[in-house]
Amino acid sequence: MGQNSDPRGGHGDKDVVGHPGWSGRGPAGPPFRQFAGRCWSNVQTYGNVSLTVRATGATDKQAVLALIGEAFSGPGRDGQVEVDIVSKTWTLAAGPKDLDLVAVDYNVIVAHALASVGNLEGREALGLAPLCVKPSRQGEGIGSALVTELLSRAEVAGWPLVLVLGDTRYYRRFGFEPAGPLGIHYRPVGRDNPHFQVRRLARFDPSLCGEFTYCWEGERRSSAT
Ligand SMILES: CC(C)(COP(=O)(O)OP(=O)(O)OC[C@H]1O[C@@H](n2cnc3c(N)ncnc32)[C@H](O)[C@@H]1OP(=O)(O)O)[C@@H](O)C(=O)NCCC(=O)NCCS
Repeated sequence: MGQNSDPRGGHGDKDVVGHPGWSGRGPAGPPFRQFAGRCWSNVQTYGNVSLTVRATGATDKQAVLALIGEAFSGPGRDGQVEVDIVSKTWTLAAGPKDLDLVAVDYNVIVAHALASVGNLEGREALGLAPLCVKPSRQGEGIGSALVTELLSRAEVAGWPLVLVLGDTRYYRRFGFEPAGPLGIHYRPVGRDNPHFQVRRLARFDPSLCGEFTYCWEGERRSSAT
């Protein structure tokens, strides 16, 4: 975790400055807003959106779980499945710190993304789950900023791929492709389900294939072997 360099209480993260996602400038905006709640040294610009992306800290966890519950609530669902996934990942310490990210705008956590280390046929592989943006802030490019940052960090860390189960229209823009044709499967959705996707990174190796299990599915993995 970086040092807190925001006199108003924001959590600075020195690591993000100089990162590939960093543009070195804040967004255009009224001067008053610029000084009202932001620490510009940590603000990054992704496309049309400017915010701070940093590792989730221990004191963020309650707000993150509340955000997840809110973002995944809807008819017939209350977000508890996703809250449990994140809680279990934290308990297992299966999410590399640099890949458990929050997006912060004016000291408010507005989005969260978590990639955890799962099992791909006996080898470690990253699975992105979940990703969410505060409902009132969706459609502004914040989700895209988080995915872009997470992929960039996974690349820098030398991971060969990132897997995700999600909407193909959304994830395709980040370079995700159906995992089935590469021989990577996720049993709960069936072989060759196009929603189970992979983003190949520079160190991708075609021998990385087979069945994937997320970290929180350890029981399924053990019973399957
Ligand atoms: C899905 C989600 C993370 C996207 O974040 P966001 O900040 O709203 O998205 P962005 O602003 O970066 O991107 C907007 C684009 O994504 C598309 N999009 C948003 N949600 C989408 C979804 N569920 N499926 C497909 N496309 C979606 C929008 O139509 C828009 O497309 P366009 O650029 O072609 O106009 C966010 O809407 C969210 O938290 N949803 C609830 C939780 C969820 O479903 N998470 C996904 C888990 S895999």
